[in-house]
Amino acid sequence: MESGGPTHGGQSVIVRALGIETSCDETAAALVEADASGLRLIAQQLATRPEESAALGGIVPELTVRQHLELLPKLTRTVLEQNAALDSVGATAGPGLAPALLVGLAFGKSLAWARSSSFHAINHLEGHIFSPFVSRERWPDYPHLALIASGGHTLLVDAPEAGRRTVVGTTRDDAAGEAFDKLARMAGLGYPGGPEIEKEAAAGEVGKIPLPRPMKGSPEGDFSFSGLKNAARLLLEKDAEIARPGVRRAHFCAEAQAAIAECLADRCRAALRRTGRKLLTVSGGVSANRTVARALEEAARAEGAALLAPAAGWNTDNAAMIAAVTARRHLDGMASDWETDVDPRWAVGSVQNGA
Ligand code: KG4
Ligand code: ZN
Repeated sequence: MESGGPTHGGQSVIVRALGIETSCDETAAALVEADASGLRLIAQQLATRPEESAALGGIVPELTVRQHLELLPKLTRTVLEQNAALDSVGATAGPGLAPALLVGLAFGKSLAWARSSSFHAINHLEGHIFSPFVSRERWPDYPHLALIASGGHTLLVDAPEAGRRTVVGTTRDDAAGEAFDKLARMAGLGYPGGPEIEKEAAAGEVGKIPLPRPMKGSPEGDFSFSGLKNAARLLLEKDAEIARPGVRRAHFCAEAQAAIAECLADRCRAALRRTGRKLLTVSGGVSANRTVARALEEAARAEGAALLAPAAGWNTDNAAMIAAVTARRHLDGMASDWETDVDPRWAVGSVQNGA
């Protein structure tokens, strides 16, 4: 648990923090109450449009921004209903889609100004790193090794202490979630692909339709998923039957899921060995996958470490994790300037954006 937090006359200060998330196609707002010892989620609202993204083959910035503009005030009003007191407001300032981030940041600043609250520009990836802990109502433990596996990122981050983070592994091509999404599309399944593959894989068997495990056993820290995608493409070009409903598609999904899980677990195990960390955390949409969670659990156990994954509902993008980092910043007395801009490429290792 992190130490500190402001106190008045020996009493622990309670902070009510609103978090806003608009970095991608989710529009979300959440309110948490926190003090130095932990926090709890009071309310949250989230809207997403996967069908629209799927129908148009991905994210359309104009539509995404319009959704944020239309829904963010409504969702925030619902979250703040009957919750008059507000000490701080935080909004995701990066990484993400610049125009989408701008909506949340401008809205967050205006609200903080109107409510005389502190304002905090929050790193989306730091939110993910917090999520396994704050979903259990506590502040992060240090040191730990954090795997973020989402649609946009696959990162292994070493966190020796609060506020210090070093990237020890990243993907050389596709993110793990992106690999799930692309493999699902090849197999004729819907978007987002991860849950579709997981469902289909339940009826399949690993090893029936072999696929490679890129970089497995490599002494380097990075991930790569393009070899897996290319192998799957070649396979499907030769044998289109695999993309039709049936047991062979289930076998393909079971194999693809196992391949991604094994690659993630292998790199985590190597990083645990290199760093000597005894706590591995995982976050991001892919951490919702049970095969991935099991593989990571085994990798951690083999290195004498524990695995901490987010509680159900905290894996994918949400505003509660942004509200939690906001509350932590407020307790640490670290407000952002009103001039703070979005940083679409904000690295997870730098605490301030633009740094
Ligand atoms: O963290 P997230 O909600 O958004 C980003 O920041 O990208 O992650 C979304 C990604 C998608 O690629 C989706 O296919 C994947 O997480 N995902 C899963 C599962 N649920 C979501 N992948 C594998 N298995 C799942 N159950
Ligand atoms: Zn995310």
